[in-house]
Amino acid sequence: MTTKWNAHLYDEKHDFVSKYGTSLIDLLAPQKNELILDVGCGTGDLAYEMTSLGASVFGVDASATMIMAAQQKYPTIAFQTMEATAMRFPQPFDAVFSNAALHWMKEPDLVIGKVYKALNNGGRFVAEMGGQGNIASIVWALQTSMEELKLPYIEHYFPWYFPSAEEYQSKLENAGFHVEMITLYERPTPLQGQGGLHNWLVMFSDNLLQHLTEDEKKQVYATCEELLKPTCFHDDQWIIDYFRLRFVARKK
Ligand code: BEZ
Repeated sequence: MTTKWNAHLYDEKHDFVSKYGTSLIDLLAPQKNELILDVGCGTGDLAYEMTSLGASVFGVDASATMIMAAQQKYPTIAFQTMEATAMRFPQPFDAVFSNAALHWMKEPDLVIGKVYKALNNGGRFVAEMGGQGNIASIVWALQTSMEELKLPYIEHYFPWYFPSAEEYQSKLENAGFHVEMITLYERPTPLQGQGGLHNWLVMFSDNLLQHLTEDEKKQVYATCEELLKPTCFHDDQWIIDYFRLRFVARKK
């Protein structure tokens, strides 16, 4: 199943994704006239920020809905619907940037190889993704609620890849990158409003729940809320255990 993204819900309730990405742009430090590839660009907010600094950006995303929304918001930026595993470009890029997207790509070696090919010699790959331990509480709640509701949990539908720093570093090095920096850090992430966890589940858990009816999904959402309330809901606010893997790698 390919994820059916709701670009409107993404922009309305999950704009923290690109807000956190701003510090990753600082790390990338885009220069005037550099050509930058944004892998998993979503609705284009970070691509836009990079163009404001004078870079030219090409944004790709596997979701046609996201690309349509990005193109509507930022008509002067070039966007294209493209799977990262199938990326091919006529010209090389000075840098590849990716925020909160690589953990959706379950063929990391193939993706890293495509990024390597897309870069100029000496070009940099600067990215942040979910790493080891990311959203462990939500994963636990989804599994437990399905068990409690006697609904089948299908391992194969698990849509994410959350590697350790050591694992991803060795993949980058195997592809030919020199890893200048890689770090796994905890970033507790507040969700918007009392319905924050519900909105998160509606937005992001559809692959895992794809075999369930709409009614069964609603029961799973409600059970997850019950299970997580004691640990993740404080002062009217959901806070989720995000772990980020952030790195800078250079094509040798
Ligand atoms: C993340 O950014 O870590 C993430 C977002 C949605 C689903 C899973 C992980």
